Amino acid sequence: MSGLTSVATYRRRVGASLDRVWENVHDWEHLPWLHHESFRSIALEDSGDFGWRARIGLHGAAQPEIRLELVLDEGECYVSRTLEGPGATSEIWTRLFPVDARHTDIEVEFLLPDVDPGQRQALGDAYVGLYTLLWDQDEGMMQRRAWLLDAPRVAANPPQPIDLGAESALEGRLPVRVSYAGRLVAVTRLEGVWIAYDALCPHMLGPLDASEIADGRVVCPWHGYAFDVRTGRGCDDAKKLRLTPAPTVVVRDGRVLLSR
Ligand code: FES
Ligand SMILES: [Fe+2]
Repeated sequence: MSGLTSVATYRRRVGASLDRVWENVHDWEHLPWLHHESFRSIALEDSGDFGWRARIGLHGAAQPEIRLELVLDEGECYVSRTLEGPGATSEIWTRLFPVDARHTDIEVEFLLPDVDPGQRQALGDAYVGLYTLLWDQDEGMMQRRAWLLDAPRVAANPPQPIDLGAESALEGRLPVRVSYAGRLVAVTRLEGVWIAYDALCPHMLGPLDASEIADGRVVCPWHGYAFDVRTGRGCDDAKKLRLTPAPTVVVRDGRVLLSR
């Protein structure tokens, strides 16, 4: 840390267990998706027990890029080091303090090179603002995952068909989200055909129903994996994944029904 100046320390309690937080720390893929306002792209160079190293695109007219490594340190601690690009040599140290099964305290210290004393406060405020947003977004993802991992998602008995309502009434509020057989399902109309698809991303349970469908594909907002909602097949990087089969949509007498 020599030659670096601490410009701020950010502390907060996040509503997630230490396991969920560590999972999030290792999850490099979510940066340009969950945090798309802050990061433009990511290309992994290496990952392992040490942590990970990647090239990360930032927003801006010059399309800046940094090379960053996230390295685990002793105990519940890790450091993000900017190796190349804007802010090179800066270090962000994060310490984790487990509170209970659903909460973890964090402490994040921002250490920068060549800090003009007159700029220190403004730099510190900017980092705290950025990390407040990043941790808000991470907390939302971690809490949803924890809730879904804890909740039983398969109904004991096969459900009866569900009447979703008149076609004309549904048109204006698609996709419709509905719980069927203990799973969250999205129902929509694609090129005139009613379809249902599982709303839980098979990668890490991201909310597929939060994304628009384009060319028959839905792109998960957490890591960007794409799925064909008509076949359930994963596309591109998600080729090995498949959506859980969804119920069938039937239109009878102008009403939309979901059934096995
Ligand atoms: S949860 Fe990772 S791509 Fe959907
Ligand atoms: Fe994150």
